[in-house]
Amino acid sequence: MSETAALAELAKRRGFFFASNEAYGGTAGFYTYGPEGAALKRNLEDLWRDRFVRELGNVELEAPTVMPEAVFEASGHLDGFDDMIVECAECGATHRADHLVEDAVAGIEDAEALGTERVGELVTEHGIVCPSCGAELAEEPIEEFNLMFGTNIGPGSGSPGYLRPETAQGIFVEFPRLKEYARNQLPFGVAQIGRAYRNEISPRRALVRVREFTQAELEQFIDPERDEPPIDRVADVELPLYSAAAQGDIDGSVETRTVREALDAGIVGNEWVAYYLGCSIEFYERIGIDMDRFRYRQHLPGERAHYAADCWDAETELGGNWIEVTGFAYRSDYDLSKHAEYSDESFTLFRQYDEPKTVERAVVDPDMSYLGPEFGGDAAGIAEALDALAGRDRSAFDGDTVTVELDGEGYTIPVEKTGFAVEEQTEAGEHITPHVVEPSFGVDRLVYSVLIHTHGSDVVDGEERSFLELPPAVAPTTVAVFPLMAKDGLDDRARSIAERLRTEGFEVTYDDTGNIGRRYRRQDEVGTPYCVTVDYETVDGDTVTVRERDSTEQTRILTADLPAAIERLVAGASVSEL
Ligand code: GAP
Repeated sequence: MSETAALAELAKRRGFFFASNEAYGGTAGFYTYGPEGAALKRNLEDLWRDRFVRELGNVELEAPTVMPEAVFEASGHLDGFDDMIVECAECGATHRADHLVEDAVAGIEDAEALGTERVGELVTEHGIVCPSCGAELAEEPIEEFNLMFGTNIGPGSGSPGYLRPETAQGIFVEFPRLKEYARNQLPFGVAQIGRAYRNEISPRRALVRVREFTQAELEQFIDPERDEPPIDRVADVELPLYSAAAQGDIDGSVETRTVREALDAGIVGNEWVAYYLGCSIEFYERIGIDMDRFRYRQHLPGERAHYAADCWDAETELGGNWIEVTGFAYRSDYDLSKHAEYSDESFTLFRQYDEPKTVERAVVDPDMSYLGPEFGGDAAGIAEALDALAGRDRSAFDGDTVTVELDGEGYTIPVEKTGFAVEEQTEAGEHITPHVVEPSFGVDRLVYSVLIHTHGSDVVDGEERSFLELPPAVAPTTVAVFPLMAKDGLDDRARSIAERLRTEGFEVTYDDTGNIGRRYRRQDEVGTPYCVTVDYETVDGDTVTVRERDSTEQTRILTADLPAAIERLVAGASVSEL
């Protein structure tokens, strides 16, 4: 059985995750986390929060998942968040046309970048057929399909909305308030963990491509001219980098460089992106990603999202495929500028100059007693247009008359009636639109990667066992407590030990069913790092046996020492050191 098939079987049987709504035939692209999976995902999110919110000094918010259409008009998702589809006239199945081309044509890795017309030509040239029924697709049109789930806000259709396709927009639209919260000081970072929705054409590979998923995103707002990341903190962190250049070279491969070396060699062009690549390595290690199956891959030029100026993906290898688990994008001022353009709010921040500056400003002070009678209701608009023109092109006022356009119509005004002048003004600063650097983590893909990378099997006492080598901080259960037998008071002692460990803050499970070996196997399979067995032996006081999942080693300690011992184990000690 392949590793992904083995994991899928384990995930379903032991309550990590399974396809949703199976009682009603299932719904492709939706998964439910069972008790083990929900606990694992929560732990992983807590570790993310710990790293990217608490340790890096950022803040977190929680925004709605439904947002009005205007937000996505501004963000570009309404126009640009499309996939190429082709529908088979024979069987009605819909497929990603770019994926069909990539599968059929050697050397094409990113067919989407070629555009619908060229992809249509390639479908014809290569005689590509419908994967579902085998019919020729040459005659079928290639269409753009928007991935957002639409809805109506309130009754009727007057107020269209969408389920957010990324949590980021919930942060960007609130920038006018967030900047005040940050006391108008850059840089500052705002994080969010929440659901995102994409009506994927072909959901696949379990949690990898689903229609509802969790993102953990950090939007780092910076002044691009002044703010530098504290790069020294991560300068020596080693990054496995698969650059765009290496991808284009037949002998190209992953190179390990420190953050500092990657910047000096120009492999990573942006300091903030490099900083977050460095900060994230520790997080991937903490959650249990196998770093031999991990790399950072730079986007090829045609691959970048509509908003991204530079982008790297963190990828994990799963069942022979490299899967993007995080996108690191330099989004420049794209989002804030767009929301400023489409809304009535200010998405800028005031940047104080070191010294006040004296600047020349072209201004107008139109003679309204002339404009009013001459142009009637258009006079105010003409005055505004004159003001804008003076700011833009003062040479337009060089002649005797100046012409401005209003709603497509030209209006000519004598310059002497415009009150045009060039004045010296002292300015304390200027308004700037911050730039955004964004690490965007897909939580479900991380959960899936951790499960696959930690899943293994070996033989213990002549019996095959399956285990998850989960780090204690991620494991759904930290300690399982067993009485050797559910009698003679051992069960009461075990229950009270479990209770005590719970009050100490550990995730604890109690199990008295089946033989002890079977109970160990059950816990190994769901990744519980420690088991405590209560037996009859009371040599030198009230004692228990502690067993470690990975080595299966056991040691006997005083019951009174148990909470401190578990704490040491979780912090990295092994049972032989207790
Ligand atoms: N705000 C940026 C953004 O949304 P993205 O690369 O489209 O960027 C970020 O998504 C992460 O979200 C990806 O790296 C991936 O881990 C996760 N993701 C995206 N689409 C997904 C899907 N259909 N199913 C599961 N995870 C997905």
